[in-house]
Amino acid sequence: MRLDKYLAETAQCTRSEAKTLLQKGKVTVNGTLCKKGDTQLKETDTVAVDGKALNYRQFVYLMLNKPEGVVSASTDKRDTTVVDLIGDAYPRRELFPAGRLDKTSTGFVLLTDDGTLAHDILAPGRHVPKQYLVTLDTPLTNAMRVGFAAGVTLADGQTLAPAEVKPAGADPCVVRVTLHQGVYHQIKRMFGMFDAGVNALHREVIGPVALDAALVPGQWRELTAEEVNALRAAATPRGVWKQLPLTALPLKNAGNDIARHLRGCDAMVLMAVTLGSGADTLMRRLELTDIALAAVVDAMASAVMEELCNALEAEIRTSVQAQGHYLTGRFSPGYGDCPLTLQQPFAIALDTVRGLGMAVTPENLLTPRKSVTAILGVADHP
Ligand code: URA
Repeated sequence: MRLDKYLAETAQCTRSEAKTLLQKGKVTVNGTLCKKGDTQLKETDTVAVDGKALNYRQFVYLMLNKPEGVVSASTDKRDTTVVDLIGDAYPRRELFPAGRLDKTSTGFVLLTDDGTLAHDILAPGRHVPKQYLVTLDTPLTNAMRVGFAAGVTLADGQTLAPAEVKPAGADPCVVRVTLHQGVYHQIKRMFGMFDAGVNALHREVIGPVALDAALVPGQWRELTAEEVNALRAAATPRGVWKQLPLTALPLKNAGNDIARHLRGCDAMVLMAVTLGSGADTLMRRLELTDIALAAVVDAMASAVMEELCNALEAEIRTSVQAQGHYLTGRFSPGYGDCPLTLQQPFAIALDTVRGLGMAVTPENLLTPRKSVTAILGVADHP
């Protein structure tokens, strides 16, 4: 990266302010005075302004305890926004809230300028759980518990993903709710289906990160590196799936076995699961240093893959059955007389590169290595 750009980002100034710093001889690179803005920096270079070393951070991640009455937006004509509460602490950063809390709700709002992580946290397929402390105007009932677990159907006919609700303590009106998706006014609408009103709603946890109890309403702090890593790991997709018409894949030339598998089906579900590139890196390293351990890790990774596939299949089955349909078992390209060449159109139809970071090599192998693709038939009878 160019020195002037680096200065502008880390020293929170404009490019022209960075130029002035350089011209005034305030900037050193590895201890040597440097006045040239177009100097290309290496990763290991240390830049200092007035003798103070700068710390480059590509993105900012803040945890805010949102008070009541503040809106989850970057700008608003009438109301104070969550970004207003940060003031001018990050003047060159375009912070935005990764997910909304209602104006009347309080608690954990993540503010960042990392669009990719924000997208991954919010994407419905990633299922990053969010936990809320909710005060109801009526005690928790068993019907709510069972209904939430099955997936509430809202007044507009939308069926939501299963959620959990449990008592938070002795008061039967105070409950903890965990959601795996984000729908407008979701908790209020879910309890509304059981004629219960929400008096207060406070978000306590996003994925693996809990709101810091030391933050009073309106206060914020930066996330630690561990919290950012944990959030990123939780938001990394492991599996994707989509229900598609049978014509979405070129099945005519894909052999008799897949035809038999899908006989009587009106549609199919394509699913893909991956352990990600980290597992490949680990196994490649072990293959060079400890081949026996590499074999053990490979076997363990395969067992984890099987678990992930079973978990995703169970989730798909629940969703398909909720629509009144039935699902066959899994069938993967390469089984029986089904050619591996089906992997290419499969990856395109499911868009596995964008959704999962999973691709198919010219030899029709999946990459990352520990990945699985499977086809499940959908029928309107068992
Ligand atoms: N569900 C709601 O109804 N409101 C929120 O602010 C968050 C979840």
